[in-house]
Amino acid sequence: ANPSLLILPGDGIGPEVMAEVRRIIDWYGEKRGIVFDVEEGLVGGASYDAHGTPLTDETMARAQEVDAVLLGAVGGPKYDVLDFSVKPERGLLRLRKEMDLFSNLRPAQCFDALADFSSLKRDVVAGLDIMIVRELTSGVYFGEPRGIHMEGNERVGINTQRYTESEIARVARSAFELARKRGNKVCSMEKANVMESGILWRDVVTEIHEKEYSDVELSHMYADAGAMQLCRWPKQFDVIVTDNLFGDLLSDAAAMLTGSLGMLPSASLGLPMANGRPKALYEPVHGSAPDIAGQGKANPIACILSFAMALRYSFGQVDEADRLEKAVDATLAAGARTADLLGPEGGTPISTAEMGTAILG
Ligand code: NAI
Ligand code: MG
Repeated sequence: ANPSLLILPGDGIGPEVMAEVRRIIDWYGEKRGIVFDVEEGLVGGASYDAHGTPLTDETMARAQEVDAVLLGAVGGPKYDVLDFSVKPERGLLRLRKEMDLFSNLRPAQCFDALADFSSLKRDVVAGLDIMIVRELTSGVYFGEPRGIHMEGNERVGINTQRYTESEIARVARSAFELARKRGNKVCSMEKANVMESGILWRDVVTEIHEKEYSDVELSHMYADAGAMQLCRWPKQFDVIVTDNLFGDLLSDAAAMLTGSLGMLPSASLGLPMANGRPKALYEPVHGSAPDIAGQGKANPIACILSFAMALRYSFGQVDEADRLEKAVDATLAAGARTADLLGPEGGTPISTAEMGTAILG
């Protein structure tokens, strides 16, 4: 059977950037004989407009069945007045929750042509290609007890960092699996020096490594030292695995080593399905960009690179993922720039569709 892909373009620039991915998917069918069974659905405001809900049960069920879901973006000012229960982002949250996507992948990848965009020196970032794996469904954002209460005559705010062994083990496995498809190196980050959950984290990652992934190189770092090393010499890393809170900070910092929001892909992975591949949702990091929606100005690269991640991590097409990333690199090297990629010196921007055409070569 052909690999199956559910495409949910969503709102704002979502459909505009997704149209360029559709052209690339067609190209794979025509030129490379790699045919995907693509179905399209509604999510976010688009789904609310059609069905009164940001995600229908039917679309949710399809998301559980396909090999991968590719989502554009959701939200927009038109929907800000809606009740919380039907807000566009609830559609995305429902997908993440019901698919149990506990492993959030945020690459920091620097295309040579954009290396001078970074606030860091060119040789520190040029050619950078690292992946932060952030645990997404547990830890201090979810742990109990939590709340604000009175103690004596003042208020106390409480959150609890809590990780079970199995929660650590599954995200560790996800990171080791990824490392095998990349540079075969994992660095685990926690604060085992001051946190009990950090001690357990380090123990469990070490055990999983010894038992199941001893072919992968493993190191450990305290998360604060890791933040420093990420800025000092990020190329020392391949895959970094860390908890929800540290991953939130480290992945935002790492992403910005390299440049524009319009360039950043992401993936959220769950447990392996019957075919051995993880449940997966791929999406650009950016939102629906209402300020430029409908004008053909959006940079489609974040969405295109999200599809490249799907090729690599869901469809087993590592060579084709490399090919697509190289096409993006070559296009940028040739000087193609959407408006978001123009520096202070300016220049003439190309449109969303022109960028898609340039990448297709
Ligand atoms: P945003 O990411 O949509 O836009 C921030 C800025 O970056 C804007 O100036 C926008 O024009 C620019 N930008 C974003 N993507 C771009 C691209 N591909 N090419 C060129 N420029 C790009 O974030 P914002 O403005 O905070 O949120 C707008 C809407 O998107 C809100 O309704 C928000 O809730 C939603 N949102 C949805 C997300 C998702 O679907 N995962 C994530 C973040 C925000
Ligand atoms: Mg964040």
